[in-house]
Amino acid sequence: MDRLPVTILLPLLLLFCRSPLSFHLIADLGFTQKTSSRIRGNPVTVMGLPFSSGTRSIISKLTSFPILLLFLLSCFSFTSTEAYDPLDPNGNITIKWDLMTWTPDGYVAVITMYNFQQYRHIQAPGWQLGWTWAKKEVIWSAMGSQATEQGDCSRFKGNTPHCCKKDPTIVDLMPGTPYNQQIANCCKGGVINSWAQDPATAVSSFQLSVGQAGTTNRTVRVPKNFTLKAPGPGYTCGPAKIVKPSRFVTADQRRATQALMTWNVTCTYSQFLSQKTPSCCVSLSSFYNDTIVPCPTCTCGCMNNITHPGSCVEGNSPYLASAITGSGKKSYTPLVQCTNHMCPIRVHWHVKLNYKEYWRVKITITNFNYRMNYTQWNLVVQHPNFDNITQLFSFNYKSLTPYGAINDTAMLWGVKFYNDLLMQAGPLGNVQSELLFQKEPSTFTFDKGWAFPRRIYFNGDNCVMPPPDAYPWLPNASSRPVISLLCSIIALLICLAFLLSYA
Ligand SMILES: *[C@@H]1O[C@H](CO)[C@@H](O)[C@H](O)[C@H]1NC(C)=O
Ligand SMILES: *[C@@H]1O[C@H](CO)[C@@H](O)[C@H](O)[C@H]1NC(C)=O
Ligand SMILES: *[C@@H]1O[C@H](CO)[C@@H](O)[C@H](O)[C@H]1NC(C)=O
Ligand SMILES: *[C@@H]1O[C@H](CO)[C@@H](O)[C@H](O)[C@H]1NC(C)=O
Ligand SMILES: *[C@@H]1O[C@H](CO)[C@@H](O)[C@H](O)[C@H]1NC(C)=O
Ligand SMILES: *[C@@H]1O[C@H](CO)[C@@H](O)[C@H](O)[C@H]1NC(C)=O
Ligand SMILES: *[C@@H]1O[C@H](CO)[C@@H](O)[C@H](O)[C@H]1NC(C)=O
Ligand SMILES: *[C@@H]1O[C@H](CO)[C@@H](O)[C@H](O)[C@H]1NC(C)=O
Ligand SMILES: *[C@@H]1O[C@H](CO)[C@@H](O)[C@H](O)[C@H]1NC(C)=O
Repeated sequence: MDRLPVTILLPLLLLFCRSPLSFHLIADLGFTQKTSSRIRGNPVTVMGLPFSSGTRSIISKLTSFPILLLFLLSCFSFTSTEAYDPLDPNGNITIKWDLMTWTPDGYVAVITMYNFQQYRHIQAPGWQLGWTWAKKEVIWSAMGSQATEQGDCSRFKGNTPHCCKKDPTIVDLMPGTPYNQQIANCCKGGVINSWAQDPATAVSSFQLSVGQAGTTNRTVRVPKNFTLKAPGPGYTCGPAKIVKPSRFVTADQRRATQALMTWNVTCTYSQFLSQKTPSCCVSLSSFYNDTIVPCPTCTCGCMNNITHPGSCVEGNSPYLASAITGSGKKSYTPLVQCTNHMCPIRVHWHVKLNYKEYWRVKITITNFNYRMNYTQWNLVVQHPNFDNITQLFSFNYKSLTPYGAINDTAMLWGVKFYNDLLMQAGPLGNVQSELLFQKEPSTFTFDKGWAFPRRIYFNGDNCVMPPPDAYPWLPNASSRPVISLLCSIIALLICLAFLLSYA
């Protein structure tokens, strides 16, 4: 008898977890940053389950159904996004320190940053790397980088170090630095490309000569508390771990040398740390309905002249030029055009044409930020038809398949020297492309908003979608299924009732 509820519940739960129902449920709650963090915090209350002592006994019975639990878990894991990106599960920036030679009072190290993130890059004004020395180390000299502040070097007579601070901050040098101050992979103004866009430029290196440090691998102390700014917050770095020394093979492959000692630091990104409000939103339209669904109002802030005068600028304002050059130019806070959503970036998805075997979408990315030209921008789009994308105009494409079999995620980015620069707000502040998809007869439909994307990221940050019940309708769609939170809860309660009566 114990098997019966499983056979009933499995398909039910399967339906619930993988059907639009759960999608709607989550969307109903507003899949914005604030609510999703609440979802992460307490997934159980989200599902509206009253977890009383009575239900706990069910849970203990549930443990006898490992498969069931697996499904339940997969249900909840859908909303789990904390510092972990489901589309790029291994994304991280790894900082590797290779000690190359010992010096009379320390060592020379080559420090290399690898951006292993598929679609998150560091753009101008570039990275800032900081740490705290474990002892009284100083930086005698730097190649391919510089410390932002020298600090107090008054205790040194004669030679003065490059930096005496206990917690130095290092920045990259600009392109065009004299060759005698460069090393390989340096001097790109702190810009690091994403791994998917170009692995060759997803690396940044510099060299430091460190003094007053240990001079053997037993006396050297690894620095602590690494911080990576890009240049704002968002990255969290772990402790340095001593690893197997790196090997360097010469160009002709005939000799290999190795570092005296190597340690690695891994930094991961979290959008929740990076900014309090979203930075991007999505608007939708289609050929079959005149309605243009705008970005949700106040997605990235609200236009409010009373509490925040000057929080945005009208496009035709005479005060525009002075606002752009005025105060705040150095702070990287966006100066946005006044819109209902107030986002720096809007992505518009237009379902443009319907052919017999194909359908066509036009994507437009618009920059509303007067303070930013987005260089090497990228877009990640999730839509089930990406496994049959046939043609793509004027953007680069790479399929991202973090889970192997499901090919529904694409990374798009600009063509070099053509549209890889998304200009600041204004007449040139947009880029666009068209995508041609081949229809898969078994899944293709214009109904129920199927033709619209499931998820969009701009430069790795989640773009807020309009609520699903606002999507443009097919003209002949008589009525849309009304799926409310209440319905979902009732469905789940029915499941529980089944469990109670059979378990
Ligand atoms: C960092 O990313 C690389 C490449 O994806 C991966 O091999 C490595 O395991 C990651 N490190 C951590 C600590 O996640
Ligand atoms: C230090 O060097 C010795 C021999 O040179 C080696 O056996 C030891 O593993 C090294 N220790 C570390 C932490 O690299
Ligand atoms: C490093 O960070 C930890 C926690 O943030 C802090 O307790 C510690 O004092 C810091 N160490 C140094 C040397 O700054
Ligand atoms: C340290 O980082 C380098 C560069 O990313 C990598 O090749 C190496 O495998 C890492 N070592 C460990 C033990 O993670
Ligand atoms: C905010 O102020 C600007 C200029 O003072 C004005 O043009 C704009 O209409 C105001 N917006 C609202 C929503 O009141
Ligand atoms: C963006 O680029 C244009 C053309 O290169 C330049 O005139 C403008 O000042 C740049 N804007 C910003 C905010 O850097
Ligand atoms: C995903 O589908 C597209 C279009 O058919 C194809 O070009 C791409 O290679 C596929 N990617 C993978 C990893 O199968
Ligand atoms: C769409 O892609 C899938 C997986 O790559 C393939 O099996 C199917 O045949 C394709 N459909 C069409 C109409 O090309
Ligand atoms: C277009 O879609 C909207 C919902 O966004 C709906 O209210 C409207 O009736 C639709 N128009 C037509 C002609 O079906």
